[in-house]
Amino acid sequence: DSDIDRVVDDFVAAAQMASEAGFHFVDIKHCHGYLGHEFLSAFNRPGKYGGSLEHRTRFLRSIVEGIRATSNIPIAVRLSAFDWIPFKEGADGVGKPWNDNGAYTEGFGGNETGLGADLKEVFQLFEIFKHLGIELVCITGGSPYYVPHIQRPALFPPSDGYLPPEDPLVGVARQIQITGQIKKQFPEMKIVGSAYSYLQEWLPQVAEAVVEQELVDFVGLGRMVLSYPDMPADILEGNGLKRQKICRTFSDCTTAPRQGMISGCFPLDPFYKGMPEAARLKEIKQKLES
Ligand SMILES: Cc1cc2nc3c(=O)[nH]c(=O)nc-3n(C[C@H](O)[C@H](O)[C@H](O)COP(=O)(O)O)c2cc1C
Ligand code: SF4
Repeated sequence: DSDIDRVVDDFVAAAQMASEAGFHFVDIKHCHGYLGHEFLSAFNRPGKYGGSLEHRTRFLRSIVEGIRATSNIPIAVRLSAFDWIPFKEGADGVGKPWNDNGAYTEGFGGNETGLGADLKEVFQLFEIFKHLGIELVCITGGSPYYVPHIQRPALFPPSDGYLPPEDPLVGVARQIQITGQIKKQFPEMKIVGSAYSYLQEWLPQVAEAVVEQELVDFVGLGRMVLSYPDMPADILEGNGLKRQKICRTFSDCTTAPRQGMISGCFPLDPFYKGMPEAARLKEIKQKLES
């Protein structure tokens, strides 16, 4: 625990640096299997950072307390609001649960089947956010490392992934619905939603609908911002979409860093297409497929 105390101090020092550098806010990451997210599901950890929800949120609360004592920078959180049992590639290449006995109790925001959400503790966490004066939360789900299809719905898996076990649209809808449930419960919070890129040409229409129906305040773009950074400008200016720039969820932007290279939209962005890394990526993918 004393090592963790030092990590908390590092987060506080980093926030102070961000404040001095002129950033508008800091985001305390609690998603995707990274440290803050791990603490939320540290049900079995002994000591002051594990066990009860109070203990499991000590990491977050201590960082927020430290930041408040050293700067005025506003604080946001990026949260995996639901989690599933880890998946692995089955014999047919399609993803399947890591264990077949249909039980999983280790996921924050997950139910005991490992294949569904239970938002009871998530709502309690939002009460804690309110108490801490956190007003901006960016919702995501699961992790790109052990359950990528719920986090980042895609038709084509990255090199360490598996074929989608569900229509990726189901993954998009799941994130919209769960985010909407949270927004309904906490209308005063400013909520960002994720996982819209698989909607492709229909992203603008769905984005407009979810904001209009108050399921979310902001639509966050992940992969689409790599392939088509000016998509929001084209939508707002009524220019029509540039089809050749629309992300098709090829996952090369994930495969490249998994293979030790920089990330970027290698299939669609001419800048990345022309890099030596693009040729290396092609070779690696061919080898993996053969
Ligand atoms: C190459 C790549 C890098 C990412 N890095 C981060 C990250 O550092 N932090 C984070 O919270 N999410 C990260 N994400 C996840 C995205 O923010 C987003 O949640 C996810 O891609 C689903 O949204 P999309 O459908 O718009 O891509 C990353 C995604 C990709 C593809
Ligand atoms: S590499 Fe480009 S097209 Fe493929 S998922 Fe990433 S952003 Fe989308």
